[in-house]
Amino acid sequence: NGVITIDPGYKNTGSCESAITFLDGEKGILRYRGFAIEELAEKADFLEVAFALIFGNLPNKVQLDKFHSDIKAQSLVDDDIKKIIDAFPKTAHPMGVLSSLTSALTAFNPSSVNVDSEEDMYNSVVKIMGKFPVLVAWTMRKKQGLPLNYGSKSLGYVENILKMMFEQPNEDYVINPIVKNALDKLLILHADHEQNCSTSTVRIAGSSHVGLFSSLSAGISALWGPLHGGANQAVLEMLEAIQADGGDTDKYMAKAKDKEDPFRLMGFGHRVYKNFDPRAKIIKKAADEVLNDLGVEDPILEIAKALEKEALNDPYFVERKLYPNVDFYSGIIYRAMGIPVDMFTVMFALGRLPGWIAQWREMRLNKEPIGRPRQIYVGETERGFIELEKR
Ligand code: CMC
Repeated sequence: NGVITIDPGYKNTGSCESAITFLDGEKGILRYRGFAIEELAEKADFLEVAFALIFGNLPNKVQLDKFHSDIKAQSLVDDDIKKIIDAFPKTAHPMGVLSSLTSALTAFNPSSVNVDSEEDMYNSVVKIMGKFPVLVAWTMRKKQGLPLNYGSKSLGYVENILKMMFEQPNEDYVINPIVKNALDKLLILHADHEQNCSTSTVRIAGSSHVGLFSSLSAGISALWGPLHGGANQAVLEMLEAIQADGGDTDKYMAKAKDKEDPFRLMGFGHRVYKNFDPRAKIIKKAADEVLNDLGVEDPILEIAKALEKEALNDPYFVERKLYPNVDFYSGIIYRAMGIPVDMFTVMFALGRLPGWIAQWREMRLNKEPIGRPRQIYVGETERGFIELEKR
């Protein structure tokens, strides 16, 4: 009707109908395809959840085996990818590297942009599910000066990720079941979260009919920011800073509440959850268990717990309904698993991959129109051009 309503940050704007993820922020409920996140985190493995998100239901054994073997058949990347990795400076942030490599994959797999049939789409999906973990592992290994290896086709999807990331030269990598279960759980908890910033980016980029890999690359860039997935790195750096500062949590609470100070309590607050983030509850419990099972004592966990307790009892946080989010405790587990802090957001991306794919696929199957928000122009009215020498 020509009337434009402005909604900065799209706080009250729906962009699509979706049948993938249900989220009730007031009650703290999260379900993928109708399945409660708590049950999935407890009973499912990541590949089953990925299948359910992308195709709508949990797979039976035959479907799961086929999905896994199709992915394994696509788990090599072009050797020239190594040259691209070599060209990045060692100091490059892994998220920038990953976003570039994901986009570069299109050059080596040009048919991946075809989505004329469901079969074409499926081929692109298994390609990226196979190749993305290789890019993740190589991004980390390159920084650590380790050879760029492949995993093993006899391993499960998550086990193979661990082997690719952590195997040392001349050593038989043995999977620690505690680490494997922790990674499975973390990946499941990050797998989808309806129309968040990176997912909306994937959908809107994909709505121009650019290919899946380029749409994902855009999503990875969006996820990198500290207000979104980058918060998991920022939380750990904040906790380390508090530790180095003698554990003075009060000082950082005061900074977070000071409106003149740009500092925010990282890992706190959420656009949709105005109650506990159900993922944070599961991760907090898992952090205790994993550290205990691995025999790791991390004083940072105690600082995190003290900070959480203070915030939950502080009127500033209570009035604004600010609770710990998914990123508050996840980094403590990643750290106990031996993952470097600048790889934390990459691990988030690894978990979010099936969610992004599912949302992109839904958008294409629904034949959604190109995303193109409007604006209200508030600039100059028409004025005459002034020659350079007269300005
Ligand atoms: N520390 C201190 N104050 C906060 C925080 C925080 N972490 N989060 C929100 N507030 C305040 C904010 O200053 C504002 O106060 P006032 O009403 O006085 O102006 C009020 O709470 C509402 O915040 P908002 O910024 O309008 O809320 P939003 O929905 O636009 O932002 C958010 C949500 C997640 C970006 C924000 O809470 C934040 O910056 N949190 C810290 C970063 C973080 O943990 N991000 C991860 C989000 S969950 C996982 C993910 O998305 O990847």
